[in-house]
Amino acid sequence: MCGIIGILSNNLVAERLIDGLSRLEYRGYDSAGIATIWENTIAKRRSEGKLQALKDLLGQKPLQGNVGIGHTRWATHGSPTHQNAHPHATDRVAVVHNGIIENYQLLKNDLLKNGVIFKSETDTEVVVHLIDQALQLGKSPEVAVQETLAKLHGAFALAIIFKDHPDVLIGARRGSPLVLGICENELFLGSDAWALAPWTQKVCYLEEGDVVIMKRSDGFTYTIFNDEAWAPINRPVKHLNLATGAVSKGGYSHFMLKEIFEQPQTLSDTLLSLIDAETQTSRINLPIDFSGEHIRIRLIACGSSYYASLTAKYWFEKYARILCEVDLASEFRYCDPVLGKHDIFIFVSQSGETTDTLAALNLAKAKGCVTLALVNVPESSMTRTADHHILTLAGPEIGVASTKAFTAQLAVLCALALHAAAQRKTIDTVSVHLGELLHVPKLVAQVLQDVSLFDELGLRLSQTRDVLFIGRGTNYPIALEGALKLKEISYIHAEAYAAGELKHGPIALVDKLTPLIAIAPNDAWFEKTSSNIQEVATRGAPIIILTDNPAFTVNCPEFHKILLPKSTPLNACFIYTAAVQCIAYYTALHKGTDVDQPRNLAKSVTVE
Ligand code: G6P
Repeated sequence: MCGIIGILSNNLVAERLIDGLSRLEYRGYDSAGIATIWENTIAKRRSEGKLQALKDLLGQKPLQGNVGIGHTRWATHGSPTHQNAHPHATDRVAVVHNGIIENYQLLKNDLLKNGVIFKSETDTEVVVHLIDQALQLGKSPEVAVQETLAKLHGAFALAIIFKDHPDVLIGARRGSPLVLGICENELFLGSDAWALAPWTQKVCYLEEGDVVIMKRSDGFTYTIFNDEAWAPINRPVKHLNLATGAVSKGGYSHFMLKEIFEQPQTLSDTLLSLIDAETQTSRINLPIDFSGEHIRIRLIACGSSYYASLTAKYWFEKYARILCEVDLASEFRYCDPVLGKHDIFIFVSQSGETTDTLAALNLAKAKGCVTLALVNVPESSMTRTADHHILTLAGPEIGVASTKAFTAQLAVLCALALHAAAQRKTIDTVSVHLGELLHVPKLVAQVLQDVSLFDELGLRLSQTRDVLFIGRGTNYPIALEGALKLKEISYIHAEAYAAGELKHGPIALVDKLTPLIAIAPNDAWFEKTSSNIQEVATRGAPIIILTDNPAFTVNCPEFHKILLPKSTPLNACFIYTAAVQCIAYYTALHKGTDVDQPRNLAKSVTVE
């Protein structure tokens, strides 16, 4: 993963490198570092842990220089130590890298044979030494980089500075995103445009295989080459309109809590962009025909977005009567999938940058399939790549564990399934259901009105080691999402099962120490789910039920019930999502874990 940044300027760059990195920390926060050229040397500052540690270090040991690069790391090769923190450098060249050099071991073996001494365990360091060797042979930075890139396999975005050429900054992109920011008297590189937004909104998105040579001596000019042909190439320059203000916690103790509480608003914003509230009709305006007899919906995603997609399968099949398949992007791209000419591909992603999802999108596009991206970040790689896109209007999501982006995805997917149902004339209750959807923000607000029971439950669960979740229908994926949220932020082991599946194996896990959280709305399957809960209670497990049935009770030594607003089969998943999010949040709060930046995770996963 990792976030990278570069600045070529006439002014000092260190502070702005740090500022840019603060907007890239969602890509990883194992360590951070910057390097500049100052008084004819490469000067570095690096620290283990969050960016704050680097800020503190720079407070004690400031860095001069008006060309520099910066990095925030999600460790792949080499543990998250100071030694492995980027930038990596020799006396002549410094490099920051996002991605993985897959053939690094072979390259490293050759370099070791030639007497090169490695200072880190990273794959990145081979890039540094290869460029360094070419420079030692008297090659120019451009040629040294060109020759090095030709030797690398894998995915990367690189930013490179040179001791003897303080007026040059080079960026290269293969597989990982990289944006060039353009100003009259400054040039920038960033893993995304948001990192650069306060300084420039005039950007150029580099494409696969692009290398950009930026020069100060010629009055801040840049030339983009493609590393295969090595011929100058024109890329479109875009003028963006991104928000630049820092996103604050707004009085909440964590971004995640704020984002949970923002959901009534973000759901309302998203739903009103898709549904005409007056006529209760779809406002989705897509040149995609859902009415064909043989069409199939293929939903592809990772993480929480995958669970939102699993939920949508129920809606596409139930309301629009379209066969719908859901795949994990990381599996889909390597399983030689059968792509039909009637397939409509929908890629679901908060960030729009997840490598596996993006690769699956490129695969479907290359096969000529219709591609639609549902993305929360405007101007992301997926919005730029897919034939069509719909934005989830959740706003910037800072907490690493997805909350408001997930429910916004559910809202878009449900409205889209109903839009398809209207085109296919499979049900005559589309407007009733769209009306029901419009009530969702109010229902979620009701869940959040009083969180004291979630808080109490969080205290209880913070003392446990394992938790089981069950649900049926659309609430089965919500159980999966609940278990994912809990493990992500509290580090408590949690698994989720379809309620009817429990007895096919997982029930062997049930004991007095493993609470069961059952999502049990008073729906058509309520009695069946109640029986499954009873089967677990009989075996002595503590039972926690989330339900809208006030009379529901279970005979067992430890029983907790959270009564939620009355739901319908269509809106229940939104209500129960808010509940499982709160359970995860308060459990983590009582455990004292780092809720917004949990260990080992990153918000945007840009490696395979
Ligand atoms: C990471 C995040 C998850 C997210 C997943 C997919 O694992 O921590 O919260 O669901 O990536 O990301 P995407 O941006 O494609 O939705």
